[in-house]
Amino acid sequence: MTITTTGTSAADIEFHYDLGNDFYELWLDGTLAYTAAKWDGIPRDEPDSTGLHRAQRAKLDHHLDLLGAAHGAGARLLDVGCGWGALMRHAVAEGRAASVTGLTVSRAQYAYLTALGLPGAEARLESWEDHRPERRYDGVAAVGSFEHFATAGMSRAERLGVYAQYFEHCHGWLRPGGRMSLQSIAYDGVADGSGPVGEFVGSDIFPNARLPRLSEIVGAADPYFSVAVLHTSAEDYARTLAAWSARLLRARGQAERLVGEDAYRRYRRYLRASEVTFLRGAATLYRIGFVRRDEPLRLPV
Ligand SMILES: C[S@@+](CC[C@H](N)C(=O)[O-])C[C@H]1O[C@@H](n2cnc3c(N)ncnc32)[C@H](O)[C@@H]1O
Repeated sequence: MTITTTGTSAADIEFHYDLGNDFYELWLDGTLAYTAAKWDGIPRDEPDSTGLHRAQRAKLDHHLDLLGAAHGAGARLLDVGCGWGALMRHAVAEGRAASVTGLTVSRAQYAYLTALGLPGAEARLESWEDHRPERRYDGVAAVGSFEHFATAGMSRAERLGVYAQYFEHCHGWLRPGGRMSLQSIAYDGVADGSGPVGEFVGSDIFPNARLPRLSEIVGAADPYFSVAVLHTSAEDYARTLAAWSARLLRARGQAERLVGEDAYRRYRRYLRASEVTFLRGAATLYRIGFVRRDEPLRLPV
Protein backbone atom coordinates (compact mmCIF):
# COMPACT_ATOMS: atom_id res chain seq x y z
CA MET A 1 0.00 0.00 0.00
CA THR A 2 1.33 3.46 -0.88
CA ILE A 3 0.65 6.25 1.57
CA THR A 4 0.54 9.64 -0.08
CA THR A 5 1.23 12.72 2.00
CA THR A 6 1.47 16.41 1.12
CA GLY A 7 4.37 16.78 3.56
CA THR A 8 7.30 14.53 4.45
CA SER A 9 6.76 11.40 2.38
CA ALA A 10 6.05 8.06 4.02
CA ALA A 11 9.39 6.83 2.62
CA ASP A 12 11.23 9.72 4.29
CA ILE A 13 9.39 9.09 7.55
CA GLU A 14 10.35 5.43 7.37
CA PHE A 15 13.97 6.42 6.80
CA HIS A 16 13.84 7.93 10.28
CA TYR A 17 11.39 5.90 12.35
CA ASP A 18 11.91 2.50 10.87
CA LEU A 19 15.46 2.09 12.18
CA GLY A 20 13.64 -0.32 14.45
CA ASN A 21 11.50 0.01 17.55
CA ASP A 22 14.18 -1.73 19.66
CA PHE A 23 16.66 1.04 18.94
CA TYR A 24 14.31 3.79 20.16
CA GLU A 25 13.32 1.73 23.21
CA LEU A 26 16.96 1.90 24.32
CA TRP A 27 17.02 5.64 24.90
CA LEU A 28 13.42 6.94 25.05
CA ASP A 29 11.63 6.60 28.41
CA GLY A 30 8.96 3.96 29.08
CA THR A 31 6.16 6.00 27.47
CA LEU A 32 8.09 5.86 24.15
CA ALA A 33 7.16 9.50 23.60
CA TYR A 34 9.46 10.91 20.95
CA THR A 35 8.78 14.61 21.48
CA ALA A 36 9.71 17.23 24.07
CA ALA A 37 8.73 16.44 27.65
CA LYS A 38 7.40 19.04 30.12
CA TRP A 39 9.94 19.63 32.86
CA ASP A 40 8.29 22.24 35.12
CA GLY A 41 9.04 21.40 38.74
CA ILE A 42 11.39 18.50 37.98
CA PRO A 43 14.71 19.14 39.75
CA ARG A 44 17.80 19.34 37.55
CA ASP A 45 19.60 16.77 39.69
CA GLU A 46 16.86 14.14 39.37
CA PRO A 47 18.30 11.16 37.43
CA ASP A 48 16.99 10.98 33.87
CA SER A 49 15.72 7.44 34.51
CA THR A 50 12.90 8.91 36.63
CA GLY A 51 12.96 12.59 35.60
CA LEU A 52 12.42 12.01 31.88
CA HIS A 53 9.55 9.60 32.53
CA ARG A 54 7.83 12.01 34.93
CA ALA A 55 8.32 14.89 32.47
CA GLN A 56 6.88 12.87 29.59
CA ARG A 57 3.82 11.90 31.62
CA ALA A 58 3.37 15.55 32.61
CA LYS A 59 3.46 16.49 28.91
CA LEU A 60 0.81 13.86 28.08
CA ASP A 61 -1.43 15.09 30.92
CA HIS A 62 -0.97 18.66 29.72
CA HIS A 63 -2.21 17.74 26.23
CA LEU A 64 -5.20 15.89 27.69
CA ASP A 65 -5.95 18.99 29.79
CA LEU A 66 -5.82 21.16 26.65
CA LEU A 67 -8.27 18.73 25.02
CA GLY A 68 -10.60 18.98 28.03
CA ALA A 69 -10.43 15.18 28.42
CA ALA A 70 -11.68 14.86 31.99
CA HIS A 71 -11.33 11.60 33.93
CA GLY A 72 -14.28 9.30 33.27
CA ALA A 73 -15.97 11.65 30.78
CA GLY A 74 -15.65 9.13 27.94
CA ALA A 75 -13.98 11.41 25.39
CA ARG A 76 -13.36 10.29 21.81
CA LEU A 77 -9.94 11.48 20.77
CA LEU A 78 -7.82 11.54 17.63
CA ASP A 79 -4.01 11.60 17.81
CA VAL A 80 -2.55 12.75 14.50
CA GLY A 81 0.98 11.33 14.31
CA CYS A 82 0.70 8.92 17.23
CA GLY A 83 4.26 7.54 17.13
CA TRP A 84 4.50 4.50 19.37
CA GLY A 85 1.20 5.41 21.05
CA ALA A 86 2.33 7.36 24.13
CA LEU A 87 -0.74 9.61 24.25
CA MET A 88 -3.14 6.82 23.26
CA ARG A 89 -1.92 4.49 26.01
CA HIS A 90 -1.82 7.22 28.63
CA ALA A 91 -5.31 8.56 27.81
CA VAL A 92 -6.93 5.12 28.00
CA ALA A 93 -4.94 3.88 31.01
CA GLU A 94 -5.72 7.02 33.02
CA GLY A 95 -9.44 6.88 32.14
CA ARG A 96 -9.26 10.19 30.28
CA ALA A 97 -10.66 8.82 27.01
CA ALA A 98 -13.10 6.09 26.06
CA SER A 99 -11.40 5.70 22.70
CA VAL A 100 -8.37 7.08 20.91
CA THR A 101 -7.63 6.73 17.21
CA GLY A 102 -4.00 7.22 16.27
CA LEU A 103 -2.68 8.00 12.78
CA THR A 104 0.86 7.18 11.71
CA VAL A 105 2.56 6.85 8.33
CA SER A 106 5.29 4.57 9.72
CA ARG A 107 4.76 0.87 9.11
CA ALA A 108 7.00 -0.07 12.06
CA GLN A 109 4.91 2.06 14.43
CA TYR A 110 1.67 0.73 13.03
CA ALA A 111 2.86 -2.88 13.43
CA TYR A 112 4.01 -2.16 16.98
CA LEU A 113 0.66 -0.62 17.98
CA THR A 114 -1.43 -3.27 16.28
CA ALA A 115 0.50 -6.02 18.08
CA LEU A 116 -0.20 -4.30 21.43
CA GLY A 117 -3.94 -4.65 20.79
CA LEU A 118 -4.75 -2.05 23.41
CA PRO A 119 -8.51 -1.90 24.21
CA GLY A 120 -9.96 1.48 23.25
CA ALA A 121 -6.97 2.41 21.08
CA GLU A 122 -7.04 1.98 17.32
CA ALA A 123 -3.95 2.66 15.19
CA ARG A 124 -4.35 3.48 11.51
CA LEU A 125 -1.62 3.52 8.86
CA GLU A 126 -2.99 6.67 7.29
CA SER A 127 -2.00 10.26 6.57
CA TRP A 128 -4.21 13.02 7.97
CA GLU A 129 -5.24 14.00 4.43
CA ASP A 130 -7.00 10.63 4.05
CA HIS A 131 -8.69 10.40 7.43
CA ARG A 132 -12.50 10.25 7.16
CA PRO A 133 -13.95 9.30 10.57
CA GLU A 134 -17.48 7.96 10.82
CA ARG A 135 -18.21 10.00 13.94
CA ARG A 136 -16.89 13.32 15.19
CA TYR A 137 -14.24 13.57 17.89
CA ASP A 138 -14.23 15.56 21.12
CA GLY A 139 -10.54 16.38 20.80
CA VAL A 140 -7.73 16.22 18.26
CA ALA A 141 -4.07 16.16 19.33
CA ALA A 142 -0.99 16.52 17.15
CA VAL A 143 2.24 16.20 19.12
CA GLY A 144 5.35 16.50 17.00
CA SER A 145 3.73 15.67 13.66
CA PHE A 146 2.92 19.16 12.33
CA GLU A 147 6.64 19.57 11.54
CA HIS A 148 6.14 16.95 8.81
CA PHE A 149 3.13 18.50 7.12
CA ALA A 150 5.14 20.78 4.80
CA THR A 151 8.24 19.93 2.78
CA ALA A 152 11.53 21.75 2.34
CA GLY A 153 10.80 22.97 -1.19
CA MET A 154 7.50 24.73 -0.41
CA SER A 155 7.08 28.49 -0.47
CA ARG A 156 5.51 30.24 2.53
CA ALA A 157 2.24 30.53 0.59
CA GLU A 158 2.27 26.80 -0.17
CA ARG A 159 2.97 25.96 3.48
CA LEU A 160 0.13 28.20 4.61
CA GLY A 161 -2.13 26.42 2.14
CA VAL A 162 -1.28 22.98 3.57
CA TYR A 163 -1.58 24.14 7.16
CA ALA A 164 -4.96 25.75 6.42
CA GLN A 165 -6.10 22.48 4.86
CA TYR A 166 -5.03 20.62 8.01
CA PHE A 167 -7.00 22.96 10.29
CA GLU A 168 -10.01 22.76 7.98
CA HIS A 169 -9.87 18.95 8.31
CA CYS A 170 -9.61 19.24 12.12
CA HIS A 171 -12.63 21.56 12.12
CA GLY A 172 -14.59 18.95 10.16
CA TRP A 173 -13.47 16.08 12.44
CA LEU A 174 -14.46 17.83 15.68
CA ARG A 175 -17.86 18.24 17.28
CA PRO A 176 -19.07 21.79 18.03
CA GLY A 177 -17.04 23.11 20.98
CA GLY A 178 -14.34 20.48 20.38
CA ARG A 179 -10.74 21.19 21.31
CA MET A 180 -7.43 20.76 19.68
CA SER A 181 -3.93 20.51 21.08
CA LEU A 182 -0.84 21.09 19.01
CA GLN A 183 2.80 20.70 19.99
CA SER A 184 5.30 21.75 17.37
CA ILE A 185 8.88 22.85 16.96
CA ALA A 186 9.10 26.12 15.04
CA TYR A 187 11.78 28.47 13.79
CA ASP A 188 12.22 31.39 16.12
CA GLY A 189 15.46 33.40 16.01
CA VAL A 190 16.37 32.53 12.42
CA ALA A 191 14.40 33.08 9.23
CA ASP A 192 14.71 29.48 8.06
CA GLY A 193 16.74 26.28 8.41
CA SER A 194 19.75 27.29 6.37
CA GLY A 195 23.16 26.75 7.99
CA PRO A 196 25.08 23.64 8.98
CA VAL A 197 22.74 22.36 11.72
CA GLY A 198 19.63 22.71 9.58
CA GLU A 199 21.35 21.10 6.61
CA PHE A 200 22.57 18.14 8.64
CA VAL A 201 19.20 17.50 10.29
CA GLY A 202 17.32 18.09 7.04
CA SER A 203 19.47 15.81 4.91
CA ASP A 204 20.63 13.07 7.28
CA ILE A 205 17.88 12.74 9.84
CA PHE A 206 14.54 14.16 8.77
CA PRO A 207 14.87 14.32 5.00
CA ASN A 208 12.56 16.87 3.51
CA ALA A 209 10.88 18.17 6.67
CA ARG A 210 10.20 21.92 7.00
CA LEU A 211 9.52 23.59 10.31
CA PRO A 212 6.73 26.18 10.57
CA ARG A 213 6.85 29.61 12.21
CA LEU A 214 4.32 30.56 14.90
CA SER A 215 2.76 33.18 12.59
CA GLU A 216 2.11 30.45 10.01
CA ILE A 217 0.50 28.08 12.53
CA VAL A 218 -1.76 30.68 14.09
CA GLY A 219 -2.52 32.42 10.78
CA ALA A 220 -3.62 29.17 9.15
CA ALA A 221 -5.71 28.10 12.16
CA ASP A 222 -7.43 31.46 12.72
CA PRO A 223 -10.46 30.94 10.44
CA TYR A 224 -11.31 27.64 12.17
CA PHE A 225 -10.08 27.88 15.76
CA SER A 226 -9.52 30.40 18.49
CA VAL A 227 -6.32 30.13 20.52
CA ALA A 228 -7.09 29.36 24.17
CA VAL A 229 -3.59 28.62 25.52
CA LEU A 230 -0.10 29.23 24.18
CA HIS A 231 3.06 27.97 25.90
CA THR A 232 6.59 28.47 24.61
CA SER A 233 9.53 26.45 25.91
CA ALA A 234 12.77 25.93 24.00
CA GLU A 235 14.15 24.77 27.36
CA ASP A 236 11.74 21.79 27.43
CA TYR A 237 13.18 20.48 24.17
CA ALA A 238 16.80 21.19 25.07
CA ARG A 239 16.42 19.27 28.35
CA THR A 240 14.65 16.37 26.66
CA LEU A 241 17.38 16.11 24.01
CA ALA A 242 20.08 16.18 26.70
CA ALA A 243 18.33 13.33 28.55
CA TRP A 244 17.98 11.27 25.34
CA SER A 245 21.67 11.89 24.50
CA ALA A 246 22.80 10.71 27.92
CA ARG A 247 20.66 7.59 27.69
CA LEU A 248 21.85 6.78 24.16
CA LEU A 249 25.47 7.21 25.27
CA ARG A 250 24.93 4.75 28.13
CA ALA A 251 23.34 2.24 25.73
CA ARG A 252 26.09 2.64 23.11
CA GLY A 253 27.09 -1.04 22.91
CA GLN A 254 23.55 -2.28 22.39
CA ALA A 255 22.72 0.57 20.03
CA GLU A 256 25.70 -0.17 17.80
CA ARG A 257 24.78 -3.85 17.70
CA LEU A 258 21.23 -2.94 16.62
CA VAL A 259 21.82 -0.18 14.06
CA GLY A 260 25.59 -0.08 13.47
CA GLU A 261 28.28 2.43 14.43
CA ASP A 262 27.39 4.95 11.72
CA ALA A 263 23.74 5.26 12.66
CA TYR A 264 24.68 5.46 16.35
CA ARG A 265 27.12 8.33 15.63
CA ARG A 266 24.59 10.08 13.37
CA TYR A 267 21.99 10.02 16.14
CA ARG A 268 24.38 11.28 18.80
CA ARG A 269 25.33 14.19 16.52
CA TYR A 270 21.71 14.90 15.63
CA LEU A 271 20.58 14.96 19.28
CA ARG A 272 23.44 17.30 20.19
CA ALA A 273 22.93 19.54 17.12
CA SER A 274 19.21 19.80 17.87
CA GLU A 275 19.92 20.68 21.51
CA VAL A 276 22.20 23.52 20.37
CA THR A 277 19.50 24.75 17.98
CA PHE A 278 17.14 25.21 20.94
CA LEU A 279 19.78 26.56 23.31
CA ARG A 280 20.79 29.33 20.91
CA GLY A 281 17.16 30.26 20.20
CA ALA A 282 17.12 29.34 16.50
CA ALA A 283 14.10 27.11 17.12
CA THR A 284 11.59 26.86 19.92
CA LEU A 285 8.72 24.67 21.04
CA TYR A 286 5.05 25.65 21.15
CA ARG A 287 2.16 23.95 22.86
CA ILE A 288 -1.10 25.48 21.72
CA GLY A 289 -4.63 24.78 22.91
CA PHE A 290 -7.35 25.65 20.41
CA VAL A 291 -11.15 25.79 20.61
CA ARG A 292 -13.21 25.08 17.50
CA ARG A 293 -15.13 28.01 16.05
CA ASP A 294 -18.74 27.08 15.34
CA GLU A 295 -18.52 28.51 11.83
CA PRO A 296 -15.26 29.19 9.97
CA LEU A 297 -14.51 32.91 9.65
CA ARG A 298 -14.01 34.53 6.26
CA LEU A 299 -10.98 36.65 7.01
CA PRO A 300 -10.01 39.54 4.73
CA VAL A 301 -7.14 38.60 2.38
C1 LIG B 1 8.09 12.79 16.16
S1 LIG B 1 6.85 11.55 15.91
C2 LIG B 1 5.81 11.98 17.25
C3 LIG B 1 5.03 10.83 17.76
C4 LIG B 1 4.20 11.04 19.01
N1 LIG B 1 3.17 12.03 18.83
C5 LIG B 1 5.07 11.34 20.22
O1 LIG B 1 4.88 12.39 20.85
O2 LIG B 1 5.91 10.51 20.53
C6 LIG B 1 5.94 12.08 14.45
C7 LIG B 1 4.77 11.20 14.06
O3 LIG B 1 4.04 11.88 13.01
C8 LIG B 1 3.64 10.92 12.06
N2 LIG B 1 3.33 11.61 10.80
C9 LIG B 1 4.17 12.29 9.98
N3 LIG B 1 3.51 12.74 8.89
C10 LIG B 1 2.22 12.36 9.04
C11 LIG B 1 1.04 12.50 8.25
N4 LIG B 1 1.07 13.13 7.08
N5 LIG B 1 -0.12 11.99 8.72
C12 LIG B 1 -0.16 11.33 9.91
N6 LIG B 1 0.92 11.15 10.69
C13 LIG B 1 2.10 11.65 10.27
C14 LIG B 1 4.79 9.93 12.01
O4 LIG B 1 4.38 8.70 11.44
C15 LIG B 1 5.11 9.83 13.51
O5 LIG B 1 4.28 8.88 14.10
